[in-house]
Amino acid sequence: MAEKFNRATFTRSFLRHITRIKAPDEMLAQASEQGLEKTLGVWDLIILGVGAIIGSGIFAVVGIAAAGSADGSSLGAGPALMVSMIIAAVACIFSALCYSEFATMIPVAGGAYTYTFATLGEFAAWMVGWVLMLEYAIGFIAVACAWSNHFTQFMTGFDKVLPSWLCHPPVWLTNDVFTVTKLVGNNPDIHVPTILGMPVCINLPAILIVLLMTAILVRGTKDSAKMAGLMVFIKLAVIALFILVGAFYVKPDNWTPFAPNGAAGIFAGAFLIFFAYIGFDALATAAEECKNPQKDLPIGIIGSLLVTTIVYVLVALILTGMQDTSAAVSLDFLKAPMAYCMTAVKQNWAAGLISVGSLAGLTSVLLVLEMAATRILFAMSRDHFISKRFQRLHPKFKTPALLTWTVGILAVVGILTLNLDVAAELCNYGTFTSFIIVCIAVLILRHTDPNRPRPFRVPWSPVVPTLGIICCGGLMVYKSLEAGSSAMLFPVWLGVGAVIYLLYGFIKNRNNENEVHKQLVHGSVGTESK
Ligand code: ALA
Repeated sequence: MAEKFNRATFTRSFLRHITRIKAPDEMLAQASEQGLEKTLGVWDLIILGVGAIIGSGIFAVVGIAAAGSADGSSLGAGPALMVSMIIAAVACIFSALCYSEFATMIPVAGGAYTYTFATLGEFAAWMVGWVLMLEYAIGFIAVACAWSNHFTQFMTGFDKVLPSWLCHPPVWLTNDVFTVTKLVGNNPDIHVPTILGMPVCINLPAILIVLLMTAILVRGTKDSAKMAGLMVFIKLAVIALFILVGAFYVKPDNWTPFAPNGAAGIFAGAFLIFFAYIGFDALATAAEECKNPQKDLPIGIIGSLLVTTIVYVLVALILTGMQDTSAAVSLDFLKAPMAYCMTAVKQNWAAGLISVGSLAGLTSVLLVLEMAATRILFAMSRDHFISKRFQRLHPKFKTPALLTWTVGILAVVGILTLNLDVAAELCNYGTFTSFIIVCIAVLILRHTDPNRPRPFRVPWSPVVPTLGIICCGGLMVYKSLEAGSSAMLFPVWLGVGAVIYLLYGFIKNRNNENEVHKQLVHGSVGTESK
């Protein structure tokens, strides 16, 4: 009898298998059975949200968004940067509302991956999980390298106090191989050790911060939230300092012309500064660890996005008031715009504090990105897409320790091998795709499961989710039309994901189905014979 059941399972159509949907009730039951510890309250969520959002976007990318890139490949928005910020925020708000509906309806680990499994089925869920790795895991690697850049720059300020090797370490110990190759091209005197003719480049600060973040995450989300809280406080304090001190040095003349590159500059700025908002969605991936997800998650997600938007617009106002962004700017402005503006008005103490704040900002972003990557992989392991071993929790800290260390070690490998400019752009593509899928998933579940309790409902559906799809899709298409290699790499990433699914995830899931059927049959036979 069992034999017959197996054969029937194997002859089901391929299409039916790959569109197999996981019922939300099954997800909720599984989560309550083997779930993570519930430790996060509303303030923890807002802190984690702001911690995830405010980082290299506002401390670095904002300079290029305002003044354009040095090679002229991207136009600057000028003082209209605040308009770009509002456009990017609006695109995020539509998706944030959709995330909130899902996160309160199915508060289990996994975010967009989980929602896709509930609506579009097995294959789409795997692909979304795979794309989310671009956003969180590759984004984690990119921000770790940005952290390393800020750290090495920060250390140069101590050359009168600390040993020279610490303040001016060799470039091969602080950069990836692609950056070092470029640097050596411009300055052949730079010495780089080689093994079998290959340059040896180890971005040590990036690797150390990744290992430190991993160790903190293994100790638990409550500890991580506490640490993120401290970082959030420091970075908000230095941003407030910039706004308050900078306000005295604003020259209103710098605000004209308001949009030196017109609508093209404003949209280019919106695309770039979108990166500065990435992170609020990471809160949904921690839904399973919330004490009261129904009430707290929407406040956490939308609250952190609103706080960030207000902070960003104020920074844009002061920054473009202090620096004329319609003419050519210095390279230092593009790297660290806030600190540069403070140095330009001889407020070096403020510039130093802003450097510390940017390190804190980047550290908290790292923490949340790594946490999100592990929570998605945790959900994928539950669904047999990756080994079940990754579900094991640490006996004391109740966190997925093996999984967290695996992500940390893979990130170290990424730091040693990736071209990080491309990685950062791929991270944006991953984010746009996941936002679009979540908006689509809300529309589908409203149709297929209209009676499921929704503690939070997206207002004016289907208008809001549709606007989310249009805004994110529009920005993605806009970038794809103008970009070069990274736009081509996105379909390659998708193709590799599809092959892995067919060779591993698909087979694992079928084996699991067979196991379940066998147990059911043996169970029922046993019952019958009694
Ligand atoms: N929003 C995050 C940052 O700006 C990714 O660093």
